[in-house]
Amino acid sequence: MNSLQIPEILLNSGHKMPVIGLGSASSPPLPQEKLVPLLVDAIAAGYRHLDTAALYRTEESVGGAVAESLLRGLVKSRDEIFITTKLQMTDAHRDRVLPALRESLRKLGLDYVDLYLIHWPVSMKIDCSNNSTKIVNFEMKEIWEEMEKCCRMGLAKSIGVSNFSTTKLSALLQIATIQPAVNQVEMNVGWQQQKMLEYCNEKGIHVSAYSPLGARGSSWGSNAVMENSILDHVAGSMNKTIAQVNNVQVALRWIYEQGASMIVKSFNRERMRENLQVFDWKVGDEYGEKIKEIPQNRVVKGEEFVGPDVEYKSVEELWDGEI
Ligand SMILES: NC(=O)c1ccc[n+]([C@@H]2O[C@H](COP(=O)([O-])OP(=O)(O)OC[C@H]3O[C@@H](n4cnc5c(N)ncnc54)[C@H](OP(=O)(O)O)[C@@H]3O)[C@@H](O)[C@H]2O)c1
Repeated sequence: MNSLQIPEILLNSGHKMPVIGLGSASSPPLPQEKLVPLLVDAIAAGYRHLDTAALYRTEESVGGAVAESLLRGLVKSRDEIFITTKLQMTDAHRDRVLPALRESLRKLGLDYVDLYLIHWPVSMKIDCSNNSTKIVNFEMKEIWEEMEKCCRMGLAKSIGVSNFSTTKLSALLQIATIQPAVNQVEMNVGWQQQKMLEYCNEKGIHVSAYSPLGARGSSWGSNAVMENSILDHVAGSMNKTIAQVNNVQVALRWIYEQGASMIVKSFNRERMRENLQVFDWKVGDEYGEKIKEIPQNRVVKGEEFVGPDVEYKSVEELWDGEI
């Protein structure tokens, strides 16, 4: 545990990861002069895990916040903060992985990241003539070999994937000499990922939940979590019995009780703090059973990565039917 008692989990790489990370994605990205102070305040509030990606265009801000926190003495050394970043689709090619991580590190102003993830099982090429992108086949073996190289070089302490189905994880395990430490996937009370959790538990891969609140208000999100009557009912019942908690905190605590970690985004200082208040009470089995009744729907389907002329003809193919 760090000083503010955010629990950590031990990854199969031997490194520890705080179970709550702060997300930094928004569309459009928040400008650096606004995002850096927010991230510094998050670190002051106790966050020790920041999630970014080449795609989010927030790596400079995350790096700026780490530097500022060190200057202000909020942390004593860089290794007190866990930094996750991700390989974007246009860099998901054998000869692009290492340069892409080096570029991310340059933007972050760091020597290493704690976790480097393949953002999607998708590769894209940029057509410079008209600045468009086209989807090409995702060469998992070649790309993973380069991810392993990043890890062996010490540029990434742990490596993993994001948006992989259990079928793709299984294919990856066949070829990996360094096992993926994490699969970061959409997970919340409205998309509970029971099959993924069971599979990853068996294989020693950690599941990290993105959009734990359903990403309400984001261009990719839905209201399914924040406006769920079962969640409201559970929060209401718990208020009468166990703790003063709201539906958001129940949604986050439920993820923790599934053994997963979570990346939650708030750019509001009060809500950032509220989202950390989930460790001194329990949802428990009785309410957990109610939460299982919530209708299930994957929100982030990746429709933009499928089409008649590309590797995945449908979202069912992209997710290997796990949709
Ligand atoms: N690997 C991937 O493909 C992938 C995909 C999506 C996201 N992610 C990562 O996961 C992070 C989190 O996911 P997300 O941003 O999609 O969604 P999320 O964390 O589920 O939801 C964020 C939304 O919830 C609001 N919110 C946060 N705390 C709240 C509270 N206590 N009460 C009321 N509203 C609250 C935020 O608004 P305010 O900011 O106004 O508080 C924001 O609109 C992202 O930022 C990104 O780092 C990864």
